Amino acid sequence: MRIIIAKNYEELSKQAANLIASQIFLNPRSVLGLATGSTPLMTYAKLIERYHQDGLDFSQITTFNLDEYVGLPKNDPQSYHYYMRTHFFQAVNLKEQRIHIPDGMAPDLEVECAQYEAAIERAGGIDLQLLGIGNNGHIGFNEPDFSFEATTHVVELDNETIQANSRFFQSPEAVPRRAISMGIKTIMRSRIIVLLASGQNKAAVVAKALYGEITPAVPASILQLHPNVIVVVDQEAAQHL
Ligand code: GLP
Repeated sequence: MRIIIAKNYEELSKQAANLIASQIFLNPRSVLGLATGSTPLMTYAKLIERYHQDGLDFSQITTFNLDEYVGLPKNDPQSYHYYMRTHFFQAVNLKEQRIHIPDGMAPDLEVECAQYEAAIERAGGIDLQLLGIGNNGHIGFNEPDFSFEATTHVVELDNETIQANSRFFQSPEAVPRRAISMGIKTIMRSRIIVLLASGQNKAAVVAKALYGEITPAVPASILQLHPNVIVVVDQEAAQHL
């Protein structure tokens, strides 16, 4: 595990964008795993800058997002479809047919999960997976105490996650109770993982995940067993390292 401590959020975002840009330069047909949440927002902004300034080319890139809420249509401003479109996809030259996000409106969610997992396999697996971390140690929407063995599946969100994510909704009641998420096993199969964490409120969980016991109680702790993880944190999130 490599740990990069950036001065602040902007530097963290630059470093993360550099790692992704390097992957794309090395292999213009890379398969990228993408994350949502507030942490990667500026990483996407930096990638858009690289697209305009350095001609970073996304035309052959395939993407798979980690997760999506169940029951939110794609045009709902709180959906991860909407987030990705407005913050990244519409600003670069990714090809629509190579963009994948789980469909939280699918009539049969189990079928949707199986098809999503199969599509990742068909694409040859994920070369570089970008991750944030929840306050409770979740990655994607893999909540504490769920099996490390899971592939893409339907998740019941924890109260802590519902509270944390309610800042984006009108009220905690408006936060969907379920989501589709790549599983820990899906994530662990990625060839490179880039984990981002920013701010003081992530410091405790980052230390637990990186140096604590490897346990489903802290889903991100499994990353200690991955051979190629790069953690990019800012100084505030690195306080307890
Ligand atoms: C959500 C997402 C995660 C994300 C986490 C942290 O629950 N499903 O993928 O890592 O929130 O979000 P933030 O970056 O806003 O702290």
